[in-house]
Amino acid sequence: MQPRPMQGGKFISFEGSEGCGKSTQIRRLVGSLESAGHDVLLTREPGGTVVGEKVRDLLQHTPEASNMTDESELLLFAASRAQLVREVIRPALERGTWVIADRFLDSTTVYQGIARGLDREKVEAINRFAVGDLLPELTILLDLDAGVGHGRAVATRVDNEPDRIEDQPLTFFEKVRQGYLDLAASESRIVVIDARGGIEEIAEEIQKIVIERLNPERAPEA
Ligand code: TMP
Repeated sequence: MQPRPMQGGKFISFEGSEGCGKSTQIRRLVGSLESAGHDVLLTREPGGTVVGEKVRDLLQHTPEASNMTDESELLLFAASRAQLVREVIRPALERGTWVIADRFLDSTTVYQGIARGLDREKVEAINRFAVGDLLPELTILLDLDAGVGHGRAVATRVDNEPDRIEDQPLTFFEKVRQGYLDLAASESRIVVIDARGGIEEIAEEIQKIVIERLNPERAPEA
């Protein structure tokens, strides 16, 4: 699959393991793009539609679903994304809106395909079916040591209860980190950012990459 630039809006996704600072950096980029006069829509996965939010609840916050199989998990993430693409992302891009996605199909490739160890080709086929031919034009990967990220995620957790996926052992998140790095090495749309830096420094680096790669007519203001 090749990234397919759509007329109108631009499509950027953010990826990374827990505690990498994704939400903070997404907020910064959305703010600067809006200041530069762009219409911006933020999506999150799983979720972002009625169907997707129900799926999110099932995937993350339903104690009775603790016996969920890896295969069911894969298909539920794909179902949430299939709905989001058709109901929200495509229409927004067609209106000329910039879409910033907090996770997209690379999360499935890495969490379900690599960390859970499901068959890579099957995961790819399901991913492709879910998104149609829509890929982000640019993916920002915030890379951080898995132990550091886990510590940050625990420290900033609002309700103090890990969800079903956050509750995995550190080795799971080590596989996630390496899986993302390997994927980035093979896909030119993915840019790796060292997430150890300060918030400002990282935000500036991301803005620079967005301008270089997507060439907005007006540069976002820092
Ligand atoms: P987040 O909203 O905090 O990023 O949480 C989403 C969780 O779901 C996170 O642990 C990563 C996981 N996830 C997958 O395992 N596969 C996927 O395809 C997606 C989108 C998320």
